[in-house]
Amino acid sequence: MTTKLSINELAERKIQGQKITMVTAYDCPSARMVDKAGLDMILVGDSLGMVVLGYDSTVPVTMEEMLHHTRAVMRGAEHVFVLGDMPFMSYQVSIEDALRNAGRFIKDGGCDGIKLEGGREVVPQVQAICRVGIPVCAHIGLTPQTATNLGGFKVQGKDAASARRLFEDALALQDAGAFMIVLECVPDVLAREISRALTIPTIGIGAGKECDGQVLVFHDLVGLFDRFTPKFVKKYAAIEKEIVTALQGYAAEVRGGDFPGPGHSFKMKEEEAKRFLAMEE
Ligand code: KIV
Repeated sequence: MTTKLSINELAERKIQGQKITMVTAYDCPSARMVDKAGLDMILVGDSLGMVVLGYDSTVPVTMEEMLHHTRAVMRGAEHVFVLGDMPFMSYQVSIEDALRNAGRFIKDGGCDGIKLEGGREVVPQVQAICRVGIPVCAHIGLTPQTATNLGGFKVQGKDAASARRLFEDALALQDAGAFMIVLECVPDVLAREISRALTIPTIGIGAGKECDGQVLVFHDLVGLFDRFTPKFVKKYAAIEKEIVTALQGYAAEVRGGDFPGPGHSFKMKEEEAKRFLAMEE
């Protein structure tokens, strides 16, 4: 079992050309599985709004929901660096808000750092949060909290001018103190150039193989979310199908009187059973 990586060790991975592995998790059992599998990082992503809570987007997710799930993850994640994802409007209104809510992730949630979405416009928040000693992972490209503003869930930085803006955002976020940047849904050449230009690690999702690490949503990776599957997702299992089959088997056996079987119930000593039945008469 590995021990939790420090921020310096994560940076060292980039220098050594060793890829960083990250996946989302939202509860204790999935965090335990990630821990057992020996991945480096967990993101308690606000994607939980869609894959766990059934919202249509990440926009409605609240701080209370994020903290509830972050605490559950922390009870299962012993050896993994855990990032809490700041939900929409928990850091945009003011620096004070951003600081207070980032602090709640660390103090109430118990996680190791936070992630927030945005480019140069969130530099003041990133600086302030880093200044109090909380590790910040930035997130640019397709930023789901503001997807409507970006024209929907679309690849970002496809033309030279918007690619240049994202490149400069990445540099500004690094200068502001971010220790890592998630690049979501950007062309691979842009992700490669950002990764080469930065000294901090980049984590890609739909950003090609030349990022310093990769992240996927747990439910996408194991085949547990059937509403839609983005092009960049690779499913490594089809768990939903297996669970539905198991549930159908259970229902059929209950209906047919085959479950519970003799091995699934508790017996009373014969003598005690006789005495008990006699009491009924
Ligand atoms: O919320 C989330 O899961 C994310 C990842 C997709 C990077 O932000």
